[in-house]
This record gives sequence, C-alpha cells and structure tokens, in this order.
Amino acid sequence: MKRVITYGTFDLLHYGHINLLRRARALGDYLIVALSTDEFNRVEKNKMCYFSYEERKLLLESIRYVDLVIPEENWDQKRSDVHLYHVDTFVMGDDWEGKFDFLKEEGCEVVYLPRTPEISSTQIKNDLGNRE
Ligand code: CTP
Repeated sequence: MKRVITYGTFDLLHYGHINLLRRARALGDYLIVALSTDEFNRVEKNKMCYFSYEERKLLLESIRYVDLVIPEENWDQKRSDVHLYHVDTFVMGDDWEGKFDFLKEEGCEVVYLPRTPEISSTQIKNDLGNRE
C-alpha cells in the first residue's frame, strides 16, 4: 500500500483544496492530512482561522480522498511523521516548491502539485469582508 501525506490549514474548505486532495490521493492508496492546529496557525503561521481545528478536521474527514487526519503542531515533525506513518510520498502545492526537498533524505518521494488558480482561504475572507 502506497501512503501519501500532505500538510495544511484547510480553512473555509474550497475547490482548490479538493483538487489538491484528489490529486494527492491519486498518487497512492492512503492519504494522510496533517492539519495545522489553531495554535500552530496563530503562533507560527500568523493565520487566524474561521473554523476551529475540530471543525476543519470534521470537514476533511468527510472527504472521500482523505483516509486519516493528524495534527500539525510544529515545523519539524515532518521528518518523524514520514517514518511514524510509513510515508512513501510527501505532497504539497507548488507555493511550497523546493521547500521540503530535504525529506528525500528520509527516503520518501517529494511532489509539488500546481495550485488551482484564483482561489484561496485568504481570498474568500477578503472578498466576503469587502462585500456591501
Ligand atoms: N492549494 C491549492 N490550490 C489553491 C489553494 C490551496 O492547491 N488554490 C493547496 C496548497 O498549495 C496546500 C493545500 O492546498 O498544499 C492547503 O492550503 P492552505 O494554505 O490551507 O490553503 P489556502 O487557500 O492557500 O489558504 P491561505 O489563503 O490561508 O494561504
């Protein structure tokens, strides 16, 4: 069984996220999503989520491409997650191109998938905030 992992915040789940998850799952047989916790988002990524960790987790677990959701609590856990979860392929959107190539040293494949244009959680928040 080929196991794939990806990381992210996935706030206000949108079709760009679904496209990413569908293509990530298609690279293997089992997809793990490491979901950034509220504290990690706030302290390290400087992001305030609209949905809480538990709400974002519930949404992700309802998607047919997602097999397991685990918490992402720090930047350094990727190296150990690869071994803990027997990961074959690490996947991220290409906004992270090259940033995680060091994981190849841990024996896993590293893939960056093209982002879906013109949609992001930040964009949704801005657009709704600007509506009259
Ligand atoms: N993603 C994507 N296409 C988009 C938006 C996101 O492929 N249009 C991917 C990202 O590259 C990442 C994953 O979805 O691998 C989770 O992204 P996340 O940062 O949670 O989503 P964004 O919508 O980009 O959120 P933000 O605007 O807060 O950065």
